[in-house]
Amino acid sequence: MRDFHGKAAFVSGGASGIGLALGRALAEAGARVMLADVEEQALADAVAGLKGGNLPDVRGIACDVRDCAAVERAAEAAVDAFGKIHIVCNNAGVGGRSGADAISLQDWRWVIDINLMGVVHGVRAFLPHLLSHGEGGHIVNTASMAGFLPGTGFGPYTATKFAVVGLSEALRAELAPQGIGVSVLCPGWVRTRITDSRRNWPREYGEPPAPRPGLIDQHIAELVRTGMAPSDVAALTLAAIRDDELYVFTHPHMRPALEARVENFLSAYRKLGPAPQDQGTKAR
Ligand code: NAI
Repeated sequence: MRDFHGKAAFVSGGASGIGLALGRALAEAGARVMLADVEEQALADAVAGLKGGNLPDVRGIACDVRDCAAVERAAEAAVDAFGKIHIVCNNAGVGGRSGADAISLQDWRWVIDINLMGVVHGVRAFLPHLLSHGEGGHIVNTASMAGFLPGTGFGPYTATKFAVVGLSEALRAELAPQGIGVSVLCPGWVRTRITDSRRNWPREYGEPPAPRPGLIDQHIAELVRTGMAPSDVAALTLAAIRDDELYVFTHPHMRPALEARVENFLSAYRKLGPAPQDQGTKAR
């Protein structure tokens, strides 16, 4: 999709950080935008901040991406508002660190329900529409570099981001013949409110896990505080949509760690030696 003028976009987690920057960048590029978020006051402030100027129509809708029916309602509202939606950014997500010994089941569920099921719900709600209007479309799923490089103390987060990378790769192969592009956004540290994700902790999971003040959390907070500007992440994402790129990497200094991981795979494979002819090649 080369040109965003006359197009319309839906961005979950649009009230803050990367989602808000995506919404702004899409609007500045000419698209009408529906921001969706669970944090209603922040959403209202975000929409108010984007309205005016010469930006196209920007609206907001309260939506908890954990709730499939709520995401479907938000999708209907977006289509009602703009007629057609062309770009869907499944971006809402939460962080949350706990040592392997301390991760509660509620913590697992919370992170999976938002970071993974939120993406699943977004794809389910919008895909029939994207396919039916015949003008093509693009889905951007926000994963993370944690979708390739596991973070110590981030088991649930890492698991969901690996899943979002896998889902996006599978979707891309499936949807390309139907004119729908898929990108997976994989940033390193970005200057957002991610370290304060528990501000949205739903009471139905019980009491929020106690913060674990300590050097590691301080270090992470500092990495986020000094991280990339969300607007830079958004600019790279729009470029990836234009060029129909699968992976949106943002932090060049993380490349050696990615190469080391690939080398680990190759090294394990080298131990197998050469493949005997035909073995396993017909199995998949
Ligand atoms: P943020 O906290 O600034 O923004 C996240 C937004 O998602 C907030 O507006 C929040 O209210 C919303 N949200 C949370 N739960 C929701 C729910 N159940 N339904 C709807 N909206 C909900 O954080 P940030 O960093 O902008 O996060 C956006 C995405 O970027 C997440 O998927 C995160 O995992 C990912 N990411 C962030 C990185 C960073 O360093 N900040 C690095 C890599 C990926």
